[in-house]
Amino acid sequence: MERTLSIIKPDGVEKNVIGEVLSRFEKNGLRVVALKRIQLSKSDAEGFYAVHKERPFFGSLTDFMSRGPIVVQVLEGDNAIAKNREIMGATNPEEAAEGTIRKDFATNIEENTVHGSDSPESADFEIKYFFNALEITG
Ligand code: CMP
Repeated sequence: MERTLSIIKPDGVEKNVIGEVLSRFEKNGLRVVALKRIQLSKSDAEGFYAVHKERPFFGSLTDFMSRGPIVVQVLEGDNAIAKNREIMGATNPEEAAEGTIRKDFATNIEENTVHGSDSPESADFEIKYFFNALEITG
């Protein structure tokens, strides 16, 4: 069993596809073991995406991530990190496979509807960024 951090980004909440996105995780064998709907401040978003702080899109990305509510969840299952990334599709929706969340819902490479941890180390950091131990029930 593995855990990963998943976010439905502001564009996904605006498009009213929270249920549709969560359903895709469940249909692919992942379980939602923690979940909340929150709004990040600009500095919350900067802290979450600190690994990208030198990237040219950092300012725009953190503006986007703090412009409206998000839904954050911990997903659990076999190979949850890789499985979630497969369900999401490529970062750029133009390159995302048919049937993936980003192919079906993303606006562009930045407003790409969902985030998922990319390694066990990032999953550990990202899960702890949003949830304490009492909020995760396996
Ligand atoms: P995510 O998987 O959350 O990881 C970092 C985010 O930065 C990514 O999804 C996109 O939202 C955004 N991003 C990545 N590359 C670019 C880019 N070239 N231009 C704008 N935003 C990007």
